[in-house]
Formats: sequence, C-alpha cells, structure tokens
Amino acid sequence: MTEPEPGANPMPWAGRFTTGPDPALNRLTSSMAIDIRLLEHDIAATVAHAHTLRAAGLLDEAQVAAIGGACESIVGEFRSGSLSPDGADEDVHSLVERLLTERLGDTGARIHAGRSRNDLVATDLRLWCKHEAGTTARMTAGLIDGLVSVAEGHIATVMPGYTHLQRAQPVTLAFHAGAHAFALARDGRRFLEARRAADVSVLGAGALAGTTLPLEPSVAAAELGVERIFDNAMDAVSDRDFAMDFVYACAVCGVHLSRLAEEVVQWTSSEFSFARLADEWSTGSSMMPQKRNPDPAELTRGRAAGAIADLTGLLALVKGLPLSYNRDLQEDKSFVFAAGDRTKKSLEITTAVIGALRFDEGRMGEAAGQGAMWATDLAERLVGRGVPFRAAHEATGRLVAALEESGFELGAAPVELLKSIHPRFEQGDVAVADPSLGVSARTSHGGPAPARVEEQLTTLRGAAEALRRDAGAPLG
Ligand code: ARG
Repeated sequence: MTEPEPGANPMPWAGRFTTGPDPALNRLTSSMAIDIRLLEHDIAATVAHAHTLRAAGLLDEAQVAAIGGACESIVGEFRSGSLSPDGADEDVHSLVERLLTERLGDTGARIHAGRSRNDLVATDLRLWCKHEAGTTARMTAGLIDGLVSVAEGHIATVMPGYTHLQRAQPVTLAFHAGAHAFALARDGRRFLEARRAADVSVLGAGALAGTTLPLEPSVAAAELGVERIFDNAMDAVSDRDFAMDFVYACAVCGVHLSRLAEEVVQWTSSEFSFARLADEWSTGSSMMPQKRNPDPAELTRGRAAGAIADLTGLLALVKGLPLSYNRDLQEDKSFVFAAGDRTKKSLEITTAVIGALRFDEGRMGEAAGQGAMWATDLAERLVGRGVPFRAAHEATGRLVAALEESGFELGAAPVELLKSIHPRFEQGDVAVADPSLGVSARTSHGGPAPARVEEQLTTLRGAAEALRRDAGAPLG
C-alpha cells in the first residue's frame, strides 16, 4: 500500500476539508487489513444498491449493467490476488467505491447516493454472519455424523459412566457419544438462529436517519436473497446483536467441543487407556521417545478460551455506546471473524480426532465391571419388590461394604451373605454384576439400553439432516 501525499485529500469527504489526514491518523482509522474479508459481500451489497437506485429512477439500466460488470471484475481480481488497495482507502467500502469511480467515472460516482458506510458495513457484516453461520451449522452436522458412526459401532460396548469423575453407573460408548452429539445438535440450531438473526438487509438506512431519495429497501433485500429488511434506520446501523448471537453460538459450541476434547485427553491417557489416537492425529515429544500426546484435543480445549474472550470482547465493545453508529463499532470485526475462524477450525479438528480414535473395548468393559457400579440397579431391584428406596439404598450400601470386607465379588457372593443383609435379596441378584445387564435393564426414556440408544441415534441422524437442509446452500 502507498501512503497518500501529506496535504492531498483523496478521502470521500474531501469537500469539507482543506488538507488530507495525517498519515498517522490514516494508520489509526484504516480497517482495510481486517475488513477486506468483506469484499465479496460489499460487492453484493453494492450491486443490490444499484438496483435500488435504478428502481428509484436514479440509475438507468445501462448504468446498473456497467456497475454489475465492474463489480464482477473486481471480485475476479480479488480472488486472483491482483487487487491492490491504495493506502488512502480507509476501508473495503472506500476501496470498492474508488474502483467503481475510477473505472466508470460519472456512473461510479453515483453509487453512494442514499447510502452510507454505516448501513453498508452493517449489511456486509450481516451477510458475513449469515454465510458463516450456515457453514458452522453444516460442519456441526458433519461432527454429529462422526459421533453417530462411533455410536453405531459401539451400541453394546460398555464403559463406566462418571459423576464427579468417579465411576457411577455402567453405560455404553454409544450412549456417551450420543450425549455429546445432542449438545452439538443444539449448537447447530443455535447457529441457524444466528443465521436467521443476520438475514436482514439494512441498506436504505443511510447514515442513521434514512434518506430523502425515494429508495425502496426491499429491492436490495430481494437482490441479496435476504429474508427481511430493517424497521428503524437508527437501530439498523447501531446494533450488533446479530453478531453477538453468532459469537455466542460459537462460544457455546467452543465450550462443548472443549468438554469432548477433555474426554479424548482422558481416554487416551495411560490411566484410562480407553482409546488410542491414530498416529496421524497424535504428536510425540522432542525429548521423551515413548510419548503419544493428544495435542489436537488439547488445542481445541484451549481455544475455547478464545471463543469466550471474543464474546466478552464484543459485548464490552457495544456496551455503553450511544445510538447510532460510533467508530468503536469498527472493532467488532476482529472479534466476529476470530470467533468464526476458530469455530470452523475446532469443528474440523474435532471431526478428524473423533474419526481417529481407536477404542479398547476390553479395557472399557473391564473398567465398567469394577467399583460396584451395579449398586443402584440392585437397590432398584429391591424397590421393585416393595422395599422403600431409602431402605434399599441403605441395604445395598451395607452389601457393598460387606463385600469389600469379605473380599467377595458380587458375582461370586453366596446368597446367604445377601440374605443376611436384606431378606428381599435373591440369588439371581448377583447377575447385576454384569455391566451389560445393568445397561440393558436401564430402558428408561433417553437411557443407555441399546434399544433406547437406537432411538436416540435416529433422532441424531434426523437432526444432522435438518441442519444441512436448513443451513442454506454452501456459497461458492
Ligand atoms: N470502517 C467502518 C466500520 O467498519 C465503516 C465506516 C464508517 N465510518 C464512518 N466514519 N462513518 O465500521
């Protein structure tokens, strides 16, 4: 980029000023390095605005066609990397307007009628959020697919279910994978909510208070394929709640991904040894030759901190701003772009990591058979025989203590021992020691019994399909 000559004034407000801005001020105000990413949306909004001007009789057909053609070549140059912003262009909006004016003369100089960079940037960012929220929703569906396919292969693979990270009740890997997938399905819907919130064109709001020109905002909205138009011009340029919705959805998804990542870290540790990460997704140590580290999971867990920071940053940025547009708002994009980029990366990495996990069914089954995790199911057998739950809980607790003391496993315990603790215990009760039996007996709604998990997987497959359908077509 070349700096403008001090004293020359290439800015769009040149009429009111005798000299141009100090180069240091230019460096402060320029957002080009960040908002150049909005270029294709800015071009789409510009073409849409040209149609609005045409409907208002302020451009003719040929002028709209000329603007459309010039816009197409700008996009082509941008994609091929041959577009070079000038140091004097404050932002992507100034860049596009300057190029149109240079290339089309009088026609280009007409494009900004009834338009401000305030309604333009507010539209561009909405288009960006709409597009990215569709992408993240689709990627969420891809990760749900990955978890469902782990579940399909492990409907009967028992493992410990934990509370307080203490072994609690046996579950299956399918049930556990499904639990993460349901959280992601809600994330996907949250992305679609954010997509809908952003699906608004605010072109026609002007700087803050509309225009005296006879512009009809629905013309641009239709051109942009956007569902709705703004209701109040001042609100339209002032608020960034649509971006907060997207960044919030990213933050919640980041938190969910970090919990899944944490379990990958645990499962692949020597202490758990429930799974191994394939070589392509493990890292080694520069010093300790034996190490296999789950770095991709750790980075996903760590990056959730950034997702939370972006949400906090964006909320703090807008808090306390008077209506309408304030230049502070220019800083919104770094939070929003970072949130979107990070979320896509974390979804991509997590999908790969899930596909790269090799589970050790033997180890998981062995762990599921330890720690008297049958105790709750056994107490419920007593309840089924008319014993009040509190008494059943107490008797089963005493049985656990007696077994610990006598050194018997439940499966090998003599019936007399059980009867001595509670007369309603029966010989057949020792069967609950088998974690598979415990799992298949827990047929309650949403439970881990294989038939119940099959239902959950059907729901998840439907949820992933719906996310893909509702996310809109991927843009080229
Ligand atoms: N670059 C600005 C932004 O991203 C848009 C320009 C609005 N500037 C102004 N002086 N009204 O928010």
